[in-house]
Amino acid sequence: MTDCCRVLVLISGNGSNLQAIIDGCDDNVSAEVVGVISNKPDAYGLIRAHQSEIDTSCIIARKDETRVQYDQRLKQAIEKYQPDLIVLAGFMRILSDEFVSQYLGKMINIHPSLLPKYTGLNTHQRAIEAKDAEHGASVHFVIPQLDAGPVILQAKVPVYEEDDIDTLASRVHEQEHAIYPLVVKWFSLQRLKMVNNIAYLDDKAIGVHGYAPD
Ligand code: GRF
Repeated sequence: MTDCCRVLVLISGNGSNLQAIIDGCDDNVSAEVVGVISNKPDAYGLIRAHQSEIDTSCIIARKDETRVQYDQRLKQAIEKYQPDLIVLAGFMRILSDEFVSQYLGKMINIHPSLLPKYTGLNTHQRAIEAKDAEHGASVHFVIPQLDAGPVILQAKVPVYEEDDIDTLASRVHEQEHAIYPLVVKWFSLQRLKMVNNIAYLDDKAIGVHGYAPD
């Protein structure tokens, strides 16, 4: 990695986490968002990128292609940006094992639950239905197994009796916007790495629930 970490963000939708990362990089000279790739042409995140004069690409899945073929086209698009870090920010596609294996330790994701709880979809609804007292978001390294990579940082929020999916989701979102830029910053300062499926911050192994200061 050169002095400035080249960050590439993959999105499918609103891109509020993308926005938080762009804003975070404005205050962090060690990282720059060099591109945004979407699989959806109407993703609002593409407009956010244009507003910040960030290059964008749209890789739309073709009806007749396999997942591996799509991922090969995605890889070609990614390589054009020469990224040091690939940030999945609401990128709503499952990536093939072959694809993920090429970017081990260089790709992170944010998932709206306190992993390892609630991998997959509908996490807010599942937390409400289970009457959980707390819920949250996790930033983790991406490995081939879905939502199972080592957690780097989590943020917890309370779940109130009167919550519905929207109120809970917006409380979680707010926390996502705080933790994701911080993790990008750690990576850009070369404080963060993954070795043998364990995440390290400043050469100290991070626990299963992410970094927790002593
Ligand atoms: C976030 O809730 C994130 O946890 C999940 O997708 C959502 C993306 O939201 N992976 P946004 O597009 O960043 O607003």
